[in-house]
Amino acid sequence: MSDAETMLDRIAAADSLGELEAVRVSALGKSGSITALLKSLGSMDAETRAAEAPKIHALREQVTAAIADRKAALETAELERKLATEKLDLSLPAPESVSGTIHPVSQVMDELAEIFADLGFSVAEGPEIETQWYNFTALNMPENHPARAMQDTFYLEPRSAGEEPYVLRTHTSPVQIRAGEAQGAPIRLIAPGRVYRSDSDATHTPMFHQVEGFVIDKSITLGHLKWTLETFLKAFFERDDIVLRMRPSYFPFTEPSAEVDVGWSMDKGRRVVGGEQGWMEVLGSGMVHPSVIANCGLDPDEWQGFAFGCGIDRLAMLKYGMDDLRAFFDGDIRWLKHYGFRALDVPTLSGGVGA
Ligand code: PHE
Repeated sequence: MSDAETMLDRIAAADSLGELEAVRVSALGKSGSITALLKSLGSMDAETRAAEAPKIHALREQVTAAIADRKAALETAELERKLATEKLDLSLPAPESVSGTIHPVSQVMDELAEIFADLGFSVAEGPEIETQWYNFTALNMPENHPARAMQDTFYLEPRSAGEEPYVLRTHTSPVQIRAGEAQGAPIRLIAPGRVYRSDSDATHTPMFHQVEGFVIDKSITLGHLKWTLETFLKAFFERDDIVLRMRPSYFPFTEPSAEVDVGWSMDKGRRVVGGEQGWMEVLGSGMVHPSVIANCGLDPDEWQGFAFGCGIDRLAMLKYGMDDLRAFFDGDIRWLKHYGFRALDVPTLSGGVGA
């Protein structure tokens, strides 16, 4: 058994995992030396076997343990070497080949924040899982109000018997109430975010994005609403020939209500925003209903204002020329590479918001 020391020496001398594995195979592998010793037990007479078996088993255990120790030591050394030599400077921009892109929806949200910040608006958020009070009732849609049926709502399972089910918010309008309660008046905010409706085709997905605009002050009029929308759309589409048309409409939370169309024209065979060849609807708006102001915890005799709600995905499609909304949420890397924005292309008004 002089083999034992040589084996242990070879284990200690192995200075790579590959070498160590070679030693292991030569000792414990199918035709390894220790395996051979174990096999030889079968042909020994009982007495010799009784004497040899414990030694051979002990040898096998000793070698197995030595290999495991050496393996751990080599792995630790390798990790330490990596830690010492591999450095990643997280403050450097990622190389183009490995960097992801900013989704057009995120880019448009950043553009909206930039444009509205310049008009003195802050950005507010609200939960996507909402109570029926905030999503409907406080917005002047009491239970059994027909308008609740206008939106194909996702209701969640009640968590306990008798609990009123939560809903996935069907619009960003509940943020009006939450913001009013939280900050009082005057208010000037936008609230971008995800909303959900049970609907799916080329222009509808069950989850989509809206931005809410909400202004409350002492003497806000429809004129302020129209000017704000015009200024916003001119900055967003980076054109001065944006024409708006307001059509009377109905929303329970605004009175009067108006749907807003924007003029389009043909440019190199593509329909673009600007000009007056035709009209397309881009948002819903109106003067905030007195009951909504009251549900914000404000006195409707003292405060008034306007609100609007606009589909963000639609804005992105119109500005950047995509035609199937569903592709927005497929997560196809080729689509993202094509339509995505470089992480460093932060929108600024001076650079043109979409820069
Ligand atoms: N919440 C409305 C919708 O989703 C849009 C809207 C917002 C209309 C604010 C008027 C005022 O359809």
